[in-house]
Amino acid sequence: MLYHEGVSRFSKRSSWDPSESSYAAAVREARASGRRVYDLTVSNPTRCGFQYDAETLLEPLRNPRALVYDPDPRGMRTAREAVARYYAGHGARVAVDDLVLTTSTSESYSFLFRLLCDPGDEVLVAQPSYPLFDFLADLDDVRLRPYPLFYDHGWWIDQSELERAITPRTRAILVVHPNNPTGHWTGVGEREALEAICVRHGLALIVDEVFLDYPLRDLTPPAQSFACGEHPALTFVLSGLSKIVGLPQMKAAWIAAFGPERERGEALARLEIVADTFLSMNAPVQLAMASWLAGRAAIQGQIQARARGNLATLRRVSGESPGRLQVLEVDAGWSAVLGLPGCVGEVDCAERLARERGVLVHPGWFYGMGEAGRVVVSLIGPGGEFEASIQRAID
Ligand SMILES: Cc1ncc(COP(=O)(O)O)c(C=O)c1O
Repeated sequence: MLYHEGVSRFSKRSSWDPSESSYAAAVREARASGRRVYDLTVSNPTRCGFQYDAETLLEPLRNPRALVYDPDPRGMRTAREAVARYYAGHGARVAVDDLVLTTSTSESYSFLFRLLCDPGDEVLVAQPSYPLFDFLADLDDVRLRPYPLFYDHGWWIDQSELERAITPRTRAILVVHPNNPTGHWTGVGEREALEAICVRHGLALIVDEVFLDYPLRDLTPPAQSFACGEHPALTFVLSGLSKIVGLPQMKAAWIAAFGPERERGEALARLEIVADTFLSMNAPVQLAMASWLAGRAAIQGQIQARARGNLATLRRVSGESPGRLQVLEVDAGWSAVLGLPGCVGEVDCAERLARERGVLVHPGWFYGMGEAGRVVVSLIGPGGEFEASIQRAID
């Protein structure tokens, strides 16, 4: 660290430990070894062999309107109208003026943390959950407090632990619906309980729905977006193009605001100033959003078929190999949590798989899972490779 008169010249918030973890070293060494690597972590949809129609996707980027700079802090109206149509397709009415466009869901989180929290304020987040939250919170001086999801023939929110985690500094509850990596849908009863807690404690509800369109089994009634129905609490629903149209490189996402009119209005007025300060959206992508969202079925069909096929493979292999592979219940999304009962020992299971078998999986601890032998695999990698990698992992 660099010091000036005994004081670090850098912020405390950026004092992350940049050294390589032993898991990262094992992955690097496996890749450098020249031996075959069995990669169960590929989750970049543009590198999974899906068919993207270049003509259809790139043509809308040539719109001459992109040559005029005409910024709108909430995002271009035509793009927001396209997002409202996406929600209409999910049975939800979203007002165009209640949407704010951002360049990523990560940016949406950052805007909301700045809107809702002063330094040191707290946001409740499920555990296990998406590891990027730690960094997003650090960058905005927010403290994350975990609330447990527990596993009992499916994942459930521990409501009483959640309520116990609330302190006078808590400002929001964050829900990923369906969750990454557990693939757990927030059920109707859970939603009602969360909303009641938010109303009782004056908290906002932040709902990340980037995986909403990828159910892995048919639910009756089908799982709904939090954009649907009534909103007793101030609620922000987040999503974006990364998963909905499988185009993370295009960098477009949004915040949809719901809830009691006065609070929602004030939230949007403040968010507009946050967004106006950055004006981070670019014109060509906003002009293309309507076309991409309208054509989303083409890529969603491929990704969903792949994820369902790989999940079926997991279940079949698990049935053929009793006691060696446990596939935890999953409702939706692009990943599955596995139990590998044979993978025990001093060294973390994911690290051992990388070192001894050349199989890459995400360690459970990435996501805050404490149980030994729990790992996370991506379901969207090519099917043949997926099955070979799973077989190799459990051999
Ligand atoms: C739960 C969750 N939210 C958000 C994102 C990222 O979305 P974006 O690319 O829009 O920042 C991811 C990416 O994997 C995710 O898993």
